[in-house]
Amino acid sequence: MAHNILLDCDPGLDDALALLLAHGDPNLVLVGVTTVGGNVGLQNTTRNALQLREYLKFPAVPVSAGAAEPLTREVRDAAHVHGAGGLGNVVLPEATLPVTGQHAADFIIDTLRATPGAIHLVATGPLTNIAIALEREPAIARWAASFTIMGGSYTRGNATVAAEFNIWADPEAAKIVFAADWRVTMIGLDLTLQAQANSIVVDRLKTLGKLADELIVPLATFYFNPNMPDWDGQAVHDVCAVAYVARPDLFLTQPARVEVETAGEFTSGMTVVDFDAPAPNALVATKLDVNGFWAYVESVYARVAVEHTA
Ligand code: BDR
Ligand code: CA
Repeated sequence: MAHNILLDCDPGLDDALALLLAHGDPNLVLVGVTTVGGNVGLQNTTRNALQLREYLKFPAVPVSAGAAEPLTREVRDAAHVHGAGGLGNVVLPEATLPVTGQHAADFIIDTLRATPGAIHLVATGPLTNIAIALEREPAIARWAASFTIMGGSYTRGNATVAAEFNIWADPEAAKIVFAADWRVTMIGLDLTLQAQANSIVVDRLKTLGKLADELIVPLATFYFNPNMPDWDGQAVHDVCAVAYVARPDLFLTQPARVEVETAGEFTSGMTVVDFDAPAPNALVATKLDVNGFWAYVESVYARVAVEHTA
């Protein structure tokens, strides 16, 4: 049975690759895309979502823009990773179709309310839109069939030593989200750093033709981190969160209690993960079937690539 998916994102190199997966997998039905400021500003993340929608040919899927800023903090972006516009060197045609005009938080509320239990909510950016939606309508936590984030970690950070970018960018929002009446599936850095587009993967992706040349390979290879001693290619973090909805069998997860640090001088935005806590609020992903993951992702991308040249 196909899974309906609503993707809240901040494209973003890997958000764009996640969107491609959500659109291309015949077992996923993309029912909406909402955008948040994160990797780059909201104007850019929304423009990117709109351009991707038309380039990838899913014009009927609504795109709604949400929060431009974190709940209480100054905006902090990751343009040094994703490029000034958010999609690295990728240049897509200007979009002709507009956003819905509805705030992302209200779009999330209305969409989940319309078919309770039928839509999987996935967030791959800072959690500002989700927190606003929860504050406006706490029942979304019951209406979502599941809720999966790319964010957090239990070992290391990337925005700081302690904090992963999506949580670090808006820790107050993340705190609200983890405290809500649902079980968050946390696909954090510990998991996503296993999903590196290394040279072997990239060589296979390069065989997919025009879509690979124009979009997939540039997105998957733009960033290089010279400070990571174990660098083996760009990690496709957000792709993992969408993949989890379609193929949970590729992931090992463990129940845990996750608290978000909002006050620490050195640890703000850290997810403090207790695997022994008596009252878990999350399922934390720990291990990826790496070969199975890439076989799945590449098969979906190959499918879209064929349609794209047709
Ligand atoms: C996360 O932060 C962003 O830069 C990526 O798009 C991903 O969502 C990785 O820490
Ligand atoms: Ca992202």
